[in-house]
Amino acid sequence: MSTVDDLTSARYAGMRWNTPLSQTHADLLLQRLGITAGVRVVDLGCGWGELLLQAVSADATGSATGTGVDTDDAALARGRTLAADRALDQQVTFLKQEASAWREPADRVLCIGASHALGGTSAALESLATLVRPGGRLLFGDGFWERPPTTEATEIIGPGIMPFPDLIEHARSLGWRVLHMSVADQREWDDFESTWLAGRQAWLLRRPEDPQAAGLRDELDVRLREYVSVYRGVFGFAYLVLGR
Ligand SMILES: C[S@@+](CC[C@H](N)C(=O)[O-])C[C@H]1O[C@@H](n2cnc3c(N)ncnc32)[C@H](O)[C@@H]1O
Repeated sequence: MSTVDDLTSARYAGMRWNTPLSQTHADLLLQRLGITAGVRVVDLGCGWGELLLQAVSADATGSATGTGVDTDDAALARGRTLAADRALDQQVTFLKQEASAWREPADRVLCIGASHALGGTSAALESLATLVRPGGRLLFGDGFWERPPTTEATEIIGPGIMPFPDLIEHARSLGWRVLHMSVADQREWDDFESTWLAGRQAWLLRRPEDPQAAGLRDELDVRLREYVSVYRGVFGFAYLVLGR
């Protein structure tokens, strides 16, 4: 494997999911999603689909099915391997596709950390309404300002982020009922930021003399510094189970 391939595969290697989440919190979300026999689950912006795979496995009858949609080849390949390892490859498929091009409604729709792929929070909440079958549920994971952001925090995170009460009100105003809400706690956030860096930190420790090492060390240090000094405790992440 070349250095570049090795570094690319190291990027997500330390992560179980690409969102601030723990297994206990995931269990709660799956329970609140109410996975029943034969449900059809779609995950838009699924990454490698860890939560999608867990959702489909939550139906003990083995009759739930799922599709994960993402544009990242490496993430999709990892998802297919995970599905095969768990004997879920007949039930779960991974598709390379723009999330915004997905049109088929499902009983349970997941969209976590991917509202940008659907045009941002507001546009995503509107278009996802057309993708949830009557009586179905949406698990929507999205960022919010936990505290008023500094200019630097807004520059790093980007525009269009709401405070938590506004996010809830916004969902409600678009016709969603909020069936569950919970936010990532500090340990989940710190673990997310640490695991986001972990694969490349390990790579650096293995290859301190590599020509790419100095640049990578700077890149990781900037991200760590931005997190701890600019948006830690300021940028939050909410998980909403919504119905309509
Ligand atoms: C923060 S990650 C979240 C991944 C996953 N939902 C999870 O919780 O682990 C956002 C995902 O959205 C995907 N994405 C970004 N733009 C997309 C698009 N236009 N269509 C589909 N997926 C997209 C990225 O490739 C990435 O896997």
